[in-house]
Amino acid sequence: MSDDLIISNNISKAEKYEELLPQLEALISTEDDLIANLANIAAALREYFGWWWVGFYLVKSNQLILGPFQGPVACTRIKFGKGVCGTCWERKESILVPDVTKFIGHIACSSLSVSEIVVPLFDKNKEVIGVLDLDSESFGVLDEIDVKYLEEVSRMIGRKELTI
Ligand code: SME
Repeated sequence: MSDDLIISNNISKAEKYEELLPQLEALISTEDDLIANLANIAAALREYFGWWWVGFYLVKSNQLILGPFQGPVACTRIKFGKGVCGTCWERKESILVPDVTKFIGHIACSSLSVSEIVVPLFDKNKEVIGVLDLDSESFGVLDEIDVKYLEEVSRMIGRKELTI
């Protein structure tokens, strides 16, 4: 595919994801390197939606370590069960945080981030291999529609045999 994303205006959020997801699929279809694909997915999500921070943390040595991301510098290591990311890993389920001040234990990498979604990434054995994290500097932007489609992105990553 060309390197340019198609980004339509004046369509609903769900329609935007319906437009973007096939482009993500195409982006990673010819590449088997995990980091390369996660880097492009983070870049495409941020370019498309303009969120404050989009990126991945990967499970290594029994902790989450910062992976490919787009946005301001971020915390590099998160322990199991800590913060929204570590809690997502522990629960093995997505977490939507409309207001980060209401999530006990939230790790504030950036004081400008006010809401957040974290989605787990699974391997073929249903083990968590990392998380997709995105932050917004606005309230009321992130919702269950994002969760639904970001889980599709997670499944898209899980379907591929990716190597580091
Ligand atoms: N807020 C996250 C930490 C990662 S940053 O948002 C990039 C958390 O509570 O786990």
